[in-house]
Amino acid sequence: MKIGVLTSGGDCPGLNAVIRAITRKAEQLNYETVGIKNGWKGIFDESYIQLNLPAVAGIVNRGGTILGTSRFSPFQQKNGKETLLHKISKEGFDAIISIGGEGSMHIAQIAHEAGINVVGIPKTIDNDIYGTDYTFGFDTAVGIATEAIDRLHTTAESHHRIMILEVMGRHAGWIALYSGIAGGADIVIIPEKKIKIDDVMEVLKSRYTRGKLFSIIVVAEGASFLEEEIPESSANKKLDDFGRERLGGISYYLANEIEKRTGFETRATILGYIQRGGVPSAFDRVLGTRFGIYSVEMVKDKKFGRMCALKGSEITDITIKKSIGKLKTVDLEIYKVAKVFFK
Ligand code: F6P
Repeated sequence: MKIGVLTSGGDCPGLNAVIRAITRKAEQLNYETVGIKNGWKGIFDESYIQLNLPAVAGIVNRGGTILGTSRFSPFQQKNGKETLLHKISKEGFDAIISIGGEGSMHIAQIAHEAGINVVGIPKTIDNDIYGTDYTFGFDTAVGIATEAIDRLHTTAESHHRIMILEVMGRHAGWIALYSGIAGGADIVIIPEKKIKIDDVMEVLKSRYTRGKLFSIIVVAEGASFLEEEIPESSANKKLDDFGRERLGGISYYLANEIEKRTGFETRATILGYIQRGGVPSAFDRVLGTRFGIYSVEMVKDKKFGRMCALKGSEITDITIKKSIGKLKTVDLEIYKVAKVFFK
């Protein structure tokens, strides 16, 4: 059995723990593992590295991915399907383990329909993949965002300012919500729960009248407001390789509006790639390791076209097709918890 392993889409902490676990479990079963460089592009480029014990030694705690990643989509290339099938058979891969987020799972599904033996492993700091309770990377990102809020708190208090932290979260505000609760944010703004911009002003004014001269707002990059057209200039309208709009900038728009409407001095911080880089948390290393080992068992059991998933404390699997049907947006019961503190 020869397994090709690739990482596709935005990176996240815990990917190397997965790659190590796949390699170690495959070794136990006498399977060969080959690392495909830079996502699906590596198959087109025939760019591979042997994954063996020395190759994965000492990487469990390393951020990023030793394989490199890209948002290359084989099926958007000329003769993409034929090239992919040809190169996979030329290399003699019996199965491909694709570690990816939402966009990459779509590619994995098309590959599966084209007859490639694919197993998916869900990853993203955004935690928005349907069918799994958590994705690895999320816990680390929440930890980093929470630390950022703690740091913003002290300077906000010293300067009597409103501090806005913008975190990632394209369609789902999981990072904003969890870090907002953990960091004691006064308002959390997420894509799933649009609010009026004036509701934000009300909270800030009410805090001010209670003698709270500073406030902390956490906003997800993909959020927007009711009855408010955010000007294009506050967002980067370029598209990524999956054709998705590049986000970022809502915090600057909000900071301007707060100063204009309340006169409170406001600063915005975009956490950006800091929340996606660096060492994975222990939780993400463990989840990644469990996913990696389970995915090799899926290959052994020929569970192709399926993705491993965390359900409660169990690792299980669902069809990739079911997972890509929708996104896992935030649990509004948890949002209600955060909302108790919006005053
Ligand atoms: O990995 C998903 C994500 O974190 C999104 O929240 C964000 O919009 C995107 O990645 C940005 O990634 P890049 O700039 O690498 O395309």
